Amino acid sequence: KKIAIFASGNGSNFHSIMEAEAKKELKIKTSLLVCDHHEAYVLQRAQGLGIPIFCFNPREYEDKKAYEEVILEHLLAEGVEYLILAGYMRLIGQTILREYEGRIINIHPSLLPAFPGKDAIGQALDAKAKETGVTVHYVDEGMDTGPVIAQESVRIYENDTEESLKKRIQIVEHRLYPSILKELFQQEHVNIG
Ligand code: GRF
Repeated sequence: KKIAIFASGNGSNFHSIMEAEAKKELKIKTSLLVCDHHEAYVLQRAQGLGIPIFCFNPREYEDKKAYEEVILEHLLAEGVEYLILAGYMRLIGQTILREYEGRIINIHPSLLPAFPGKDAIGQALDAKAKETGVTVHYVDEGMDTGPVIAQESVRIYENDTEESLKKRIQIVEHRLYPSILKELFQQEHVNIG
């Protein structure tokens, strides 16, 4: 399966997926990185691995529809079948959803439906929650609202800071995302026969 990874920042999840792909644990080929920040560290990671990149500045387009049309051209040109969001800090709009709905997957650092949207880790700490976690889910038009594929919880300790909690959440993310993608694409393989 040809996939595109969408990321806006550091790209540690991008890295964990690429590692699993390199070890041939995943039946996927990352054919494109889509990024909306010219300064993002994930760009260096992709360059280092020779992954094709489409990087855009949303401010140079009139609206979401305008930049998503250009993203879509790149996805279709590369023959991309699935979209894997890994820290992409934008809502996917109708232009891309129409083409890929049911084939877009996201990872979010909370046990959805708790703490959707930005700063999920800060939200969990502010709420004095005893646990939070990681959710892998399909993407629909809402903000972190699509059907859940897998969840794993992470304990919150009294002395946790954003940094310490984020560290433990990311350890789970880096294991969970590749393993769920592995399962999903194996199933698909079996279904197709
Ligand atoms: C992850 O915590 C992910 O759950 C959220 O954004 C963060 C991206 O981190 N959607 P990274 O860029 O993969 O390091």
